[in-house]
Amino acid sequence: MSDLKKIKNEYLLKLKSKLNLSDINQIKSELFGKNGLVSSQFKKIGTIAQSDRKKFASDLNIIKDELQNIISSKINEIENSVINEKLEKEQIDVTLPERPFVRGKIHPVSQTIDEISSIFSEIGFSVEEGPDVENEYNNFTALNTPDNHPARDMHDTFYLDEKKQRLLRTHTSPVQIRTMLKDRPPFKIIAPGRTYRSDSDQTHAPMFHQVEGLHIDKNINMSHLKGCLNYFIKEFFEVKKIKMRFRPSHFPFTEPSAEVDIGYEIKDGKIIIGEGDKWLEILGCGMVHPNVLRNVKVDPTKFQGYAFGIGIDRLAMLKYGINDLRAFFECDYRWLNHFGFDPLDVPTNYRGLSR
Ligand code: DAH
Repeated sequence: MSDLKKIKNEYLLKLKSKLNLSDINQIKSELFGKNGLVSSQFKKIGTIAQSDRKKFASDLNIIKDELQNIISSKINEIENSVINEKLEKEQIDVTLPERPFVRGKIHPVSQTIDEISSIFSEIGFSVEEGPDVENEYNNFTALNTPDNHPARDMHDTFYLDEKKQRLLRTHTSPVQIRTMLKDRPPFKIIAPGRTYRSDSDQTHAPMFHQVEGLHIDKNINMSHLKGCLNYFIKEFFEVKKIKMRFRPSHFPFTEPSAEVDIGYEIKDGKIIIGEGDKWLEILGCGMVHPNVLRNVKVDPTKFQGYAFGIGIDRLAMLKYGINDLRAFFECDYRWLNHFGFDPLDVPTNYRGLSR
């Protein structure tokens, strides 16, 4: 029997057995691959005697076509049966009613943090973060709060070890220290985040939120602080005018220090910010104490600036008319549905400056 016939008979037989896709691909390459049986026969054509060459070539082409046809129809068959099997198994009942569509809401505190960050980023502040678990040094000592300083008691700290070395940060001010230690001045950052104190009533929760601000450069003074806070409060409450006053205060990490009040009044049971003759304390601030700068290796004869710390929850309560702080953290789904924000809504302040 000629080689061609042998190949043909052998492979016709093979193709009759039960094959899967990889068997067929294997056969295909045995026959038509670079050194496949049929391919090698084609290479041989030149060596065949002139008189037999034409017949050989025509026989070879016939065998090639026959085998190729069988192979492609087998492949088709297998692919179809895989699809049919899938269709059988994965029946979809298109008559079933749709599942209810539930969309989550953004928590008012997260929304407020986004708004605050966007307002400050408009005037060149970048956002820094620090860990909730802090060391004593960053939270107190580096911020010019010595061991026996009464501010330590005021903070009702949650300590995490007996030696009082690790704690839940009592304010976001340690992010000032972290930022200044890892970089060189100038600094212009805000640091929003969670803070903790052992305290709980209608206006205090053991976990709450603050945003820290820090601006250090060569010629930064208190008028920059006032201008910055004035801009922020107007943008945040979306009012054109704001009544604001600085009251002398004390923080170990600033000198001079101040607390800032904004004017408000109650009209028809609603709080109106920026008008009236009542005052509401909303933040603490001051010029960063030279000792703090020295602690982070910044030369206070060359650089100075201001810092502030704002209670975020209080701002959110004022802006969105929420009167019990504890509701923020109770995870009541109905409350969240009412006070939460639609994730697809653009926060009001993203439309740009309101002035
Ligand atoms: N850390 C202060 C607190 O939690 C708030 C504060 C006051 C932050 C003055 C500051 C500041 O950066 O300058 O009560």
